[in-house]
Amino acid sequence: MILVKLGGSVITDKSRLRTFRRSACDRLAREMRSGASEGILVVHGAGSFGHIVAKKYALHKGLKYDSQVEHVATVQRDVRELNLRVLESLIDAGLNAVSVPPASSSTFENGCVKTFSDTPFSSLLDMGLVPVSFGDVVPDMAMGFSICSGDLMMAELAKAFKPRLVVFCADVDGVFDKDPKLDKSAKLLDEIDSSITMTSFKEKSVNADVTGSMKGKIEMMLAISEHCEKCIIVNGNVRGRLESAIKGTQVKSTTVVPRQVSA
Ligand code: IPE
Repeated sequence: MILVKLGGSVITDKSRLRTFRRSACDRLAREMRSGASEGILVVHGAGSFGHIVAKKYALHKGLKYDSQVEHVATVQRDVRELNLRVLESLIDAGLNAVSVPPASSSTFENGCVKTFSDTPFSSLLDMGLVPVSFGDVVPDMAMGFSICSGDLMMAELAKAFKPRLVVFCADVDGVFDKDPKLDKSAKLLDEIDSSITMTSFKEKSVNADVTGSMKGKIEMMLAISEHCEKCIIVNGNVRGRLESAIKGTQVKSTTVVPRQVSA
């Protein structure tokens, strides 16, 4: 089985509210269809269907003031609209995609997963369907509501299903030693493990969105890499990278390897 995250920065224009990048999503859907000969689990980010409004009204902080509630509803609706468009792309590519919102498998407390059931996913996989989950605003037992990132779902799914391969489709070639969008001398790292100098990734980057910093994302990927044979970050904006990663051919990317266990 393979587990694929379609990053919100690839399938949406993150700077323009609710802007779907249909052709990018269609291409990634076709690459999954032609690359994979096994079960597929898909998670997608929220991009500009989630982050802009969630950040404006601090939805990641939970219920703080009454007027947030109206924006919980709009973000829920908007991410479902995105999910529907992703489903359309996948179905058009020949994948039998079905939606599994995070709250149908999980409960949440303080922004973390409290309980997770793999049944909603495994029963669909058994029928040959492709379950699709996504970053969402979710009920939270301690905070009223909170944000579940797509990466959080990735971690739960990796733990439960131990996929052969986990692929993160990002809008950059992988993990760099510096921010490639700010520094032209940034070098792509072929491989990272837990010894990666975390000091080079600030806790809160200037443009950090509601689901956190690069440091947090890398820590999540390191944890995920312990539950799969291979965990890889590819540039989802470059044609063929996802398909090559799925087929196991050499591709420009960063491979995430688990913490080195000392002998
Ligand atoms: C964010 O999910 C969810 C909401 C803001 C509602 P992700 O963190 O997985 O989204 P991307 O991939 O960064 O856009």
